[in-house]
Amino acid sequence: MIPEEKIAEVRERAGIVEVVSDYISLKKSGANYLGLCPFHGEKTPSFNVNPARGIFHCFGCGVGGNAVTFVMKMEGISFPEAVKLLAKRVGVTIEERLPTAAEKRRLDEKEQQLAIVAMAAEYYAGLLLRDRAGEPGRHYLAGRGVESEIITPYRLGYASEQWDGLSRYLRQRGVPLEQVERLGLIKPKSSGSGYYDLFRNRLIFTIANVHGQPIAFGGRVLDDSLPKYINSPESPLYNKSETLFGIDMARQAMREQRAVIIVEGYFDHLALYRAGIRNVVATCGTALTSGHLQVIKRYAERIYLLFDADSAGRKATFRGMELVLDEQLPCFVVEMPAGDDPDSFLASHSAEEFNGLLAKARPALDYCLRDLLSRNDTGTVAGKKAVIDAFRPLVQKLADSRERNLYVSELERVLDMEPGSLTRGERTQARPAVAATERRVSDPALSLLALLARYPEIAAEFRAAAVEELLPQDLRPLAAKLLECIETGAGVDFSALIAPLAETELGRALTGVLMDDSHLADIDPHRALQDYRRALEKQSLQQLDAKSLRRELQYLDSDSPRYMEIMAALNDLRNKKSQLL
Ligand code: CTP
Ligand code: MN
Repeated sequence: MIPEEKIAEVRERAGIVEVVSDYISLKKSGANYLGLCPFHGEKTPSFNVNPARGIFHCFGCGVGGNAVTFVMKMEGISFPEAVKLLAKRVGVTIEERLPTAAEKRRLDEKEQQLAIVAMAAEYYAGLLLRDRAGEPGRHYLAGRGVESEIITPYRLGYASEQWDGLSRYLRQRGVPLEQVERLGLIKPKSSGSGYYDLFRNRLIFTIANVHGQPIAFGGRVLDDSLPKYINSPESPLYNKSETLFGIDMARQAMREQRAVIIVEGYFDHLALYRAGIRNVVATCGTALTSGHLQVIKRYAERIYLLFDADSAGRKATFRGMELVLDEQLPCFVVEMPAGDDPDSFLASHSAEEFNGLLAKARPALDYCLRDLLSRNDTGTVAGKKAVIDAFRPLVQKLADSRERNLYVSELERVLDMEPGSLTRGERTQARPAVAATERRVSDPALSLLALLARYPEIAAEFRAAAVEELLPQDLRPLAAKLLECIETGAGVDFSALIAPLAETELGRALTGVLMDDSHLADIDPHRALQDYRRALEKQSLQQLDAKSLRRELQYLDSDSPRYMEIMAALNDLRNKKSQLL
């Protein structure tokens, strides 16, 4: 528990330039400082630090934040850890205070929930290790060649056929069953009272958070019945799009090797673990998300996709690769013989042979091009076009322009096209980073905030025009705070302002527009305010449905511009609908 004032003091005292300079070298460039981004590989600097506003932003890979977020990312540590570390460096002493009653309740509740899942894990492990009821589980594991010594360190378990085994176990230990229900481990019976266990007759995999605390389970049937797996539902502890199975066991190795291998299944993870390969995580039943990648980025910077060698695995590879490229992380694809998954491969091959596959992993785009070539008849114009259309959008995701050019040349070569023919006639492709910046600058909501930040004199007008209500929900608190700072003359602390949005997509975009607002120089802020406001209105119009539009229409003057706009939008909606019918 770090008091809010202390966090603010640390933020104030920790100059962003000094903090960043501890890690990378910066050069002054205009009002900002510039350096090579430590979060993605680059040869020309696009990492910017704005000392006046206390923020950083990389126009190459899009990361951004304040001094605290910078240290979090650099050191791979949590927010309170980063605050404490910075506090030491800048000489702020933090006496940890006791949590307030409300904080204590929240903490206690979470502690309690963690304790419940831990008890459930113990229950399942106990059955598999030493209970007669666990015999089918032991037999199943032995049949798949899994030695019993691994049960404890890997936290395997077994759920017996009893329909209330877990509820009884937990109730005997004084656990309120409504709490267990909230964690999705038991369900209320549809008739009568009482609960039944979610997992029955299943081998149990324990899903833990990065600290190794159990938060959920996955359970596999022991035969061919369906569904093969069931997983805990999302709960206050378990967020599927941010949880990776095995992250706690992999964390250390990921840091050491700076790389991670992503597999699809629990058994794949187990097989690699048994082969001594530890920097592995599994997505457990959900597609890879950018939330997963945010977690991974704390520990690793190269990503190896190792999905099943079947058509579902291929699709997952393509989808995963796009996400990884969007994060500007180097991505490789590990290929196995057709039909294999890592578990089946290791059942018939040695760990050395597996390492051979790893060593031959191809950069994602190489894999992709070869795959497209093998699937399209490039002797035909249609085939060539299909390859080009699928491949070029992926190439455009690369930050490095030389790398992009090389892939385009390679594409021309393999398709027997004249060098340069694919780019001739086109304007040279803008760097994606720049394109992304343009997109951000043209986002009216972000632009409005940047405008207000640069021209505090429009605050009254901003308020009068009720711009705040037009902003997307997640930007409103920030706009309110910014207005308040300006109106009270308190001065704006940008690094504090962006703090609640740190680590989010929006937060990154925001540091981007706040980093360099030179596009706002020499403009009339009053006109710009009105322009952006109208753009926002138009945008929100596109998101509205016909019903609310008609409602708004009733109150408008029939020759106001807004009236015309709504009529046009309604027409549009009608056309779209008739096209659908
Ligand atoms: N999965 C799931 N629900 C299912 C099927 C699969 O959640 N009904 C998830 C599980 O996390 C599983 C992963 O998807 O581990 C991959 O599925 P699959 O390849 O079918 O399972 P394997 O892990 O390979 O399991 P096994 O080797 O036992 O077939
Ligand atoms: Mn398998």
